[in-house]
Amino acid sequence: MDTYNVLLIGGGGREHSIAWKLSQSDKLGKLYTAPGNPGTAQFGTNVKIDPLNFEEVETFVLENKIELVVVGPEAPLVAGIADYLTEKNIPVFGPRTSAAMLEGSKEFAKDFMMKYEIPTADYAVFSADEFDDALKFIQLKDSYPIVLKADGLAGGKGVFICDSEEEVQKRLNKIKNDQSLSGAADRLVVEEFMEGEEASVFVISDGHTSHIIHNAQDHKRIGEGDTGLNTGGMGAYCPAPVVTDEVLAVVKEKIIDPTIAGMQLEESAYLGILYVGLMITEDGPKVVEYNCRFGDPECQAILPPLENDLLDLFLATTQQRLDEKSIQISNKHYCCVVLSSDGYPVEYEKGKEITGIENVDEDTFVFHAGTTLKDGKLVTNGGRVLNVVGSGHTLQQAIDKTYENVERIQFENRYYRKDIGHKGLRRN
Ligand code: AMP
Ligand code: GLY
Repeated sequence: MDTYNVLLIGGGGREHSIAWKLSQSDKLGKLYTAPGNPGTAQFGTNVKIDPLNFEEVETFVLENKIELVVVGPEAPLVAGIADYLTEKNIPVFGPRTSAAMLEGSKEFAKDFMMKYEIPTADYAVFSADEFDDALKFIQLKDSYPIVLKADGLAGGKGVFICDSEEEVQKRLNKIKNDQSLSGAADRLVVEEFMEGEEASVFVISDGHTSHIIHNAQDHKRIGEGDTGLNTGGMGAYCPAPVVTDEVLAVVKEKIIDPTIAGMQLEESAYLGILYVGLMITEDGPKVVEYNCRFGDPECQAILPPLENDLLDLFLATTQQRLDEKSIQISNKHYCCVVLSSDGYPVEYEKGKEITGIENVDEDTFVFHAGTTLKDGKLVTNGGRVLNVVGSGHTLQQAIDKTYENVERIQFENRYYRKDIGHKGLRRN
């Protein structure tokens, strides 16, 4: 059988779970991960190349006979890694810039949805020198909460939900002067607030054929009961009961199919993973956001139940043969709890020794995110440190199994949410 050498770009929990899943494939030759983490190192070699330096990536690909590049995070995709490698005839799993703009520009995504009549919140767009007009527009609407979004990539820090005119004024001033948004807020999307429960659906597409992989629910806020600051995600579970068969059928017909078809019409055929962030409202599912990649930590929860060979799916995608494939998902429930450093997402200490991973049950996964090896010891090296993923025949069992194992892993300043999956339990 032919085997394929793979370069996986990224270094978080998402990439550890992708590396683990790829390692199950008979088709995998050598696996390299850039930059990877101690988790991905269990399945191959971590390499120090800069994913935003495309020439460096190309050189590595040629020297190491890489036959497929898989891109985990959004930044290299939006910056054009898929365009660059495709032009050099290097197969790459992930959308080109023009398609990754569904995540890279909220204005692009909203205009696209408007054009193709894909359900989403009403909106208006303002440039940086029109913030006074934005305020007037919001005053005229006089309906709160209202949502302000920086147009560009902002690592989850560019969305503000404002409950009053005063808050909008304060926020607009802050956005203007916020260096950390560097350019992301050159344009501002003002959006109607949608009431409902959030969930996400993950789609794999070769530009023509698309398949739903699975659905999940993330927990974006730092505090229990969905309170406090937004984070990259503190935990996820799948499937999400709010995504009923009926909801899923509507999502496919009214959102996914027109998105894939619309991108073809725009001559930006979508190849890769499409993350559809949804609000399930009283009027049906509406798009909150698109992302051009797997979610983190959702990926860590949805890859374990995937019964397909992931490398085979990635190859079928880059070879435009996805119509030959169908997705097989086990009917088990999975729960992923993120162990983080106390103080995340603002300020936190690193370098704390991690112990107890060896005590975790064999059927429970521990995916590394912010960890590193120091003097032979595993220590914390980021805000989100580890992902513990347990399973069960019911959501309750999956949650219990996960938290039982969470307790076996220790490090100083460990923080995690204790209510991952609880909205799903309430719905059940
Ligand atoms: P985004 O980066 O666009 O996904 O926004 C981050 C989070 O803000 C989402 O996950 C939602 O919880 C919330 N959010 C964004 N847009 C809206 C909206 N129009 N209505 C309600 N909540 C929203
Ligand atoms: N967990 C949310 C994201 O990956 O964007």
